[in-house]
Amino acid sequence: MRLQGKVAVVTGAASGIGLAVAQRLADEGAQVVIGDRNVAGVEAAAMSIGQAATAMALDVADESSARAIIDRAVSLHGGLDIVCNIAGVLDFGRFEDVDRGRWDRVIAVNLTGVYHMCHAAMPHLIERRGNIVNMASAAGLVGVPYNSAYSASKHGVVGLTRALALEFSKEGVRINAVCPGGVKTPMVQQTPPDNIDWQMVMRSASWLDGGEMAEPADIADAVAFLASSEARRITGATFTVDGGQTAG
Ligand SMILES: NC(=O)c1ccc[n+]([C@@H]2O[C@H](COP(=O)([O-])OP(=O)(O)OC[C@H]3O[C@@H](n4cnc5c(N)ncnc54)[C@H](O)[C@@H]3O)[C@@H](O)[C@H]2O)c1
Repeated sequence: MRLQGKVAVVTGAASGIGLAVAQRLADEGAQVVIGDRNVAGVEAAAMSIGQAATAMALDVADESSARAIIDRAVSLHGGLDIVCNIAGVLDFGRFEDVDRGRWDRVIAVNLTGVYHMCHAAMPHLIERRGNIVNMASAAGLVGVPYNSAYSASKHGVVGLTRALALEFSKEGVRINAVCPGGVKTPMVQQTPPDNIDWQMVMRSASWLDGGEMAEPADIADAVAFLASSEARRITGATFTVDGGQTAG
């Protein structure tokens, strides 16, 4: 119960890592306000978590929607301690096929969405010396072939995390990023396009246990730790949970 009495906002909570994080923060005693553009999914998530959870429709790419979930958390619970920016989209493809629409969509959700959430939340986090955990990726630390927009967006999340950690250190607001390797979620079950060198993608990822991917709960463990006071000396970190993928 490391998060007893804390108020958290979690994005992307209808599925995968976001769902596991929302459940984990609630298990640790937090009130969680959870958002996703999959409205039925996030409502089902809140039902399964129970009284500690409130669901909201959310599109992180839309600034007013991002502000609305932060405002809702503050008006419901009187303040805000933790923001977990988990919502994201993956887009594999050859670079020549990544047209401006595809590029803009990935950057709008994965990078500008994190900006929207951080910007709306920061005044409230300053009041309570709160913290932010951003979901970056191993692809935010090393390039992944045929994943140009996604890799660029996640490198952007790492840069934003580091810059904010320094800028808000005086206010006592911590900002960290978690960088998972492969995690068993619906995101990685998408069929990749057949015109990419999939072997090359797989060579860029060397996971523990002969390629076994992590479970969403493994990532939620790291998020809960970083969000808790056990991590009070940790800010600006890129916390890898990638089975060693980026170690070499
Ligand atoms: N699964 C992996 O292998 C892996 C690895 C590294 C990083 N990540 C990152 O973890 C995060 C969660 O991914 P996941 O694997 O759980 O995928 P997922 O597809 O299961 O979940 C992503 C969730 O984000 C939501 N979402 C997408 N766009 C949104 C928007 N504009 N506004 C609000 N919600 C939106 C989706 O509806 C979905 O519920 C992502 O940021 C992803 O990039 C995943």
